[in-house]
Amino acid sequence: MPRPDRSALGGGFTDEMSRLSGEYTALVNQAELLRHRKGDAPSKEEAELWAKAADTCDQIISHSRGLRDLRVQWESRKQDCLENVKKIADLLAPPPPKEPKAPPAAKPAAVSRISTNTDGGAGTASGADPDFSTRNANEDVSAEMIRSWYQDPPDKGLDELVGVRELKERLMEEIGNVDWQVLNNVLGISPVQSYFLYGPPGTGKTELIKAFAGTLMPKGFKFLKLKGGDIHNKYVGSSEKIVDAAFKEAIDAATENPGCILFMDEVEGVCVNRAKSNIQGHESKLTNAFLEARNTLRDCKKRVIFFGATNFPQDVDPAMLDSVSMIRLPLPDEETRAEYFQKIAFPTLTLEPGLTYEDLAAETDNFSFRELEALVKGVKVQLRSVLIKDEGNWVMNEKGEKDQSATDKKLAELVENGGVTLTMELFRKEIKVQNLPMDKSEIRAQLLAFEQGSR
Ligand SMILES: Nc1ncnc2c1ncn2[C@@H]1O[C@H](COP(=O)(O)OP(=O)(O)OP(=O)(O)O)[C@@H](O)[C@H]1O
Ligand SMILES: [Mg+2]
Repeated sequence: MPRPDRSALGGGFTDEMSRLSGEYTALVNQAELLRHRKGDAPSKEEAELWAKAADTCDQIISHSRGLRDLRVQWESRKQDCLENVKKIADLLAPPPPKEPKAPPAAKPAAVSRISTNTDGGAGTASGADPDFSTRNANEDVSAEMIRSWYQDPPDKGLDELVGVRELKERLMEEIGNVDWQVLNNVLGISPVQSYFLYGPPGTGKTELIKAFAGTLMPKGFKFLKLKGGDIHNKYVGSSEKIVDAAFKEAIDAATENPGCILFMDEVEGVCVNRAKSNIQGHESKLTNAFLEARNTLRDCKKRVIFFGATNFPQDVDPAMLDSVSMIRLPLPDEETRAEYFQKIAFPTLTLEPGLTYEDLAAETDNFSFRELEALVKGVKVQLRSVLIKDEGNWVMNEKGEKDQSATDKKLAELVENGGVTLTMELFRKEIKVQNLPMDKSEIRAQLLAFEQGSR
């Protein structure tokens, strides 16, 4: 078994990176301990731990774009984890003998059933639907897996996002079009629409699609989400069938309902650029299968809205870009950041005299939404510790002892009523502690090269 290197990240990095690194180490330890406890026998539970560790690596990788060395290090750890998943899956489910043919019900658990991904994976576990049925399950793609692609209604709609005004308008127009299906039909306007979202990590690609779905699901639309990177890595052998089943499922869902949104995140994992010099045979087969399946949408005449998203558009096969609307997600500009601080981050805090949201925005040039979130979280943690450390804020009980629960409520009320002040000093200190923003020169150069090439 390859043993992933478990040394933690170097010091001085963001809190979030340290947390993820700790999570990864804990998962690796648990997996190894489990193996040891089971007398060196592999188990499904152990595979689940390796799969989770791979997901954690993924999160770290998405935070470390622009930091090439770090990314390479975590990509190699992720590969080691995935290799362990595959090895265990092979040990637990050896290929069935050719003669006699095993009936489908007796088939041992396949690799594909081991997924424990909690963020999309080949699918995110959605609200269990006991009546779920599908025509698209087969030996390689279980009904359980297909059900996991169905997402619960997201809690936000497009209205609740800050910035991205033009994109929201464009998608709102799409939503408006949904109400004119008969007219569209007569005019011969295809109900199928495909979008390709790209941009640096943390700029809101996933959030935008979720909010779009959140606005359409009340109209009866279904929302299916899959993660290309996982299909590619975790389900080698079944990946073409998974991709095929996903498009079929989307068409079926759009037939039985007003429409369906199909979201393929990390689309570079299933539609690999065939011009890449080191492309593997199975990658180009998967790409062909993906493009073929996607083309079935054109003729289906059902309301399927397809989204592909990636941070690496140059790694996606150019054929994917035929007949899709390209949407680039930019880093939030100064106006958007000010709106973010006011409406989302600090709606109940009072700014110190003379300080404005625009001043905070001016300090955060080049931040992604994800980095803004990390910063805001750090600022709030600092504020909390200032409040707790202040002896004058404590409520005492009858015995003259500190009453933690009463103090908790009192301080919460204080925050809600605007009684807590944010200072520029504290804000700047947190930016320094977190060493933000990360360097984005590499990803910017890649995106520019892609845009110049695709013009
Ligand atoms: N327009 C927005 N308004 C408010 N918050 C946002 C907005 N866009 C994104 N966010 C927040 O920023 C975080 C990162 O967004 P998201 O995960 O959608 O980025 P992404 O571009 O998909 O990143 P990645 O490339 O790593 O997948 C999320 O927690 C999301 O809630
Ligand atoms: Mg995303």
